[in-house]
Amino acid sequence: MNPQSTPRWEAALKVTGQAVFPAEVQAEGLLHAVLVGAPIASGQVLSIDAAQARLTPGFADLVSYPEAEPLRASSVTALIREPVIYFPGQPVALVVAESLIAARAAAHAVRVTYEQQPAVSALDQVLDQAYAPAMAGRIPAASRRGDSETALADAYLVVRERYETAVNNHHPMEPHAVVCSWDGALVTVHTNTQAVFGTRAAIAHAFRMPLEDARVIARFLGGGFGCKGQLWWPWMMLAMLASRRTGRPVRLELTRAQLFTLAGRRQETVQDMALGFGVDGRLTAIEHHVLAQTSANAEYSDTTAGVSRWLYACPNVTTSHRLVRTNEPQPIPMRAPGVAPGTFALESALDEAAMRLGLDPVDLRARNYADHDQDAGRPWSSNNLLECYRVGAERFGWSRRPAPGTAIDGCWRIGWGMATTCYPAHRQPCRARVRLEADASLLVQCGTQDMGSGTYTVMGQMAAEALGVPMSRVTVELGDTLLPEGPFSGGSQVTASLSPAVAMATTALRGRLAAMAVADPESPLAGYKPEDLDFENGMIRARTSNVAEPLADLLARREPEGLEAEGSSDGPDREGQAFTGMGFGAVFVEVGVDPDLGETRVRRVCGAFAAGRILNPLLANSQYVGGLIGGIGMALHERTVTDRASGRILGDGFADYLIPTHADIPRFDIAMVEEHDPLLPGGVKGIGMLGTAGVQAAIANAVFHAVGKRVRHLPIRIEDLIGD
Ligand code: MOS
Repeated sequence: MNPQSTPRWEAALKVTGQAVFPAEVQAEGLLHAVLVGAPIASGQVLSIDAAQARLTPGFADLVSYPEAEPLRASSVTALIREPVIYFPGQPVALVVAESLIAARAAAHAVRVTYEQQPAVSALDQVLDQAYAPAMAGRIPAASRRGDSETALADAYLVVRERYETAVNNHHPMEPHAVVCSWDGALVTVHTNTQAVFGTRAAIAHAFRMPLEDARVIARFLGGGFGCKGQLWWPWMMLAMLASRRTGRPVRLELTRAQLFTLAGRRQETVQDMALGFGVDGRLTAIEHHVLAQTSANAEYSDTTAGVSRWLYACPNVTTSHRLVRTNEPQPIPMRAPGVAPGTFALESALDEAAMRLGLDPVDLRARNYADHDQDAGRPWSSNNLLECYRVGAERFGWSRRPAPGTAIDGCWRIGWGMATTCYPAHRQPCRARVRLEADASLLVQCGTQDMGSGTYTVMGQMAAEALGVPMSRVTVELGDTLLPEGPFSGGSQVTASLSPAVAMATTALRGRLAAMAVADPESPLAGYKPEDLDFENGMIRARTSNVAEPLADLLARREPEGLEAEGSSDGPDREGQAFTGMGFGAVFVEVGVDPDLGETRVRRVCGAFAAGRILNPLLANSQYVGGLIGGIGMALHERTVTDRASGRILGDGFADYLIPTHADIPRFDIAMVEEHDPLLPGGVKGIGMLGTAGVQAAIANAVFHAVGKRVRHLPIRIEDLIGD
């Protein structure tokens, strides 16, 4: 095994139950909270009658709009300060009681009256009200280079189709939770957030308190995928209000059903694609127009059409993103936001083009490789997409691809498909502290949190390697606003942000230790040159001879209190607009389709990815596999359904919201293409999102290859493939 493939630092803590997740935090005199949700989709709250609820044994308190009103007004507090209902299930009050059962009973006894207003329950009900937001994710919503209309009119081949993707919900294993307690003006908030510092800032703003008075702790998270961010804050704040009023700690934990409404979703899309090609198979035009759902109370857009600006060389590209407001829950980023639905449309359309041009799908993509970022007009920091095609195709055996519809295995028609994926390399400012204790053990600290993706491990590993200390002697502390400030866990940016900060801290420590050793007459290393010293196995060792000294001995003489250093890294602004950092990949899929039953099985997946320096291949593999599983779910299973009449979510549980199980998942062959990125600090690109996109289109393309049915919406279901 690769020595960098260190298993998870916290694995034993998790499997032995010693890792304490926020919902498990114990507190003396804890009260349990339950939210009271509105049954209507749109309207006003007229009255809240808690008389019956107060008679429930164990009832402690109820907080609602009047209690939240003193909070500072903002988009976060609006939903709890203003008695307006925007979507069904929106909380109108929070009840706290001595037990969870008592809180549930009391919440049921709360009587709320409403003035109901007309509601919009589906995107297609108000198409005439679609509007263009300024931004789609991090980039302007509309873009134009060249003249796609003329180029399409002149094209040798035009593929013009509509692709649609369903609403998905994130559903981390661990639901959102908070255990909060006040000590006078100070508040401690244990909550499973992807952003402890962002959560602290939101609390300080809402409660009009200095940042230092709020401490947010998230030691462990059971997944997030984008939903453990700001949409949880209002409900968390209701629990904080109840805690302050009662003077007791309060725990609130969302139910699985509430995760369908209170924590965000992947926005539904309708995407109109038009691709124009010359006779040589080169793209002459791309149009990618997106229509998506946002909520009645807030605006959100993914960077859905971004892929059409970035992925291929094309002189004429027009993209747009429009939104429709519905009385449905608020969308937010969900793993591979924008890129997952966007590649489904673009990469399906390319497959349709390859068929019509009589070109191999890999060949068609390679012909249209973009050797620089044509959208921004600057070079890539690195781009090994062509190598991904080559390696992926070779490992998958693509050259042996059967003719469409000819491969059969029992009841299964076999199909092969492929697609390209990409994801921008993001970074944020980050600080980290590395402390070498007197016994030569290491303490590594950063306030960022580990969503479950391996931040503990990678951070400990970087410091351990630099100082030659074994992983067994490393302690990592994360997820606490009292620690040095780190990035939010999103946009696949934590590792890339951490890596330069940890490197700076360990470089400083090495420098100080080496200088100390060579200047100490009692050290066997006295008189050596600092640059000739190595750090390994808990020792400082001369490269030029056999002489070494244990770190602990040196520290005992010179720094008996231990030694520490901080490092920091900037966000991406420093390098200005000189280049674009982007990870790339190629995904190859084999499916079996049973034409009688309409069933689709993914039999084989090979993903070849180029994403800069891989710090831990074991964890990186796990990120790719997790992403691909999420992508398979999006392709074949996941769909959140809104009842058009009531506006409510139908089947808000895992019985109805299908997710892939082990039986749905094949073995994955992950190829990490070696990539030396000379421009990104540390050469690190994020990988969490990269593997989550592309596989959807690859599956749809494989289904077409198997049975000749082009399904242009996700998820692909039995009813799409059965019959004619
Ligand atoms: Mo993410 S979808 O930025 O957790």
